[in-house]
Amino acid sequence: MLHGGNEKNRFSHIWATDIPLATKGVVFPQTTEQVSEVLKLFNAHQEEVVIHGGLTNLVGGTQTTSNQWVLSLEKMNKIEEVDKKAKTITAQAGVILEQLIQTASQNDLFLPLNFGAKGSAQIGGVVSTNAGGMRVFKYGMTRSLVLGLEVVLPTGTIISSLKKIIKDNSGYDLKQFFIGAEGTLGIITKVCLRLYERPTSRYAALAGVHTFQQVISLLRLMNKSLSGNLSSFELMWKSTYCAATNANTELNPPLPHDYPFYVFIESLGNDLSKDFSQFESGLTEAAEKGLLLDAVMANSKREVKMLWSIREDTQILRKPFVATQHFDISLPIGVMDAEVSSITGTLEALPFVERVLPFGHIADGNIHLVVGKKDDSPEYSEKINAIVYRNLKKHLGSVSAEHGIGLQKKDYLHTSKTSQEIALMKTLKTTFDPKNILNPNRIF
Ligand code: LAC
Ligand code: ZN
Repeated sequence: MLHGGNEKNRFSHIWATDIPLATKGVVFPQTTEQVSEVLKLFNAHQEEVVIHGGLTNLVGGTQTTSNQWVLSLEKMNKIEEVDKKAKTITAQAGVILEQLIQTASQNDLFLPLNFGAKGSAQIGGVVSTNAGGMRVFKYGMTRSLVLGLEVVLPTGTIISSLKKIIKDNSGYDLKQFFIGAEGTLGIITKVCLRLYERPTSRYAALAGVHTFQQVISLLRLMNKSLSGNLSSFELMWKSTYCAATNANTELNPPLPHDYPFYVFIESLGNDLSKDFSQFESGLTEAAEKGLLLDAVMANSKREVKMLWSIREDTQILRKPFVATQHFDISLPIGVMDAEVSSITGTLEALPFVERVLPFGHIADGNIHLVVGKKDDSPEYSEKINAIVYRNLKKHLGSVSAEHGIGLQKKDYLHTSKTSQEIALMKTLKTTFDPKNILNPNRIF
């Protein structure tokens, strides 16, 4: 355990390593039984505890106050098993996602989760927040990869169901309560994930597109012509592409800064030459139909990596500004263009806003906005929130497509859930955590 000042060299988010951790102390359980014992103690004494994984959460989920304890899962970092017959990987909650991806690959299997924070995010947090990322279009959110879980309830009870089976309709699917619950209902200590056959071909391209309607048509065309191999289809508006690849960043632009939209496309398959020609002919057909203005294909592993780093390195977008706010909204794809234009126009007319940079998982109807500001005052933040979220309810969208609610989006939960739904969520919280000790005040 760390306390008495020694906890001060820790922090609550990897983007804020200069702010010392505020806490009563940090505990580092090494086993599920230890997690259970610690929770029994905290529960008996009604002590609040905040769970720490890789600290990459983007909604304040890992923030603490000095009267709260921290339980870090970093010492529960073992991969317990790769089952090549069942195609599963079982691991403790503190294992870093990238390690799981590599281990699967070494076993000729594939864990499709892919997002910028994969080198730091721990799998317990990934599952607790039902993380999304770049391949949701083909493989679904984290939820669709979870076969089994072991969880410790706030009262200390261990719920163990590390099953490897795909089908299980034996009553309530209890694991679903904990996936995406942001650590409010229990601490995930182990996970069993579903793996896929390892793709042997990976191709990527960047396309410059003139209109948003053409972006949608390009998505449909590539999806059809890649016959199941289309694994990512990511969009950057021009402003965002320019911000990520200008002279002040380390990323070179593979296409000039001339086009209104930039689409990042990935194909994963199992036939090197056929997949290449399929990808190439898809792009050629799109060009012939006038759906794209220009395109480059990455020709080596290095080029694929470089191309995707432009989309993945979202930190770069925040750098030029005194302060930023970032958003993660879901909208039906049909209203996305008009909504993003109207939000961007309204925000950029405000004197305290410098730039709005939209990008995101367009095939999932999920857009991120980085709003660069001249000032970090809470009053301005609220004004910006109100504008971004103003039409979510009308369009049946979501205030959080993949980042969760945490502490930062609580005030806007009502834009995405009815009061009856919120009441039921609160009932669940009280049932699982009657003394409200675990990740308190997150979500609502
Ligand atoms: C991304 C993270 C911010 O899509 O969700 O890059
Ligand atoms: Zn994202």
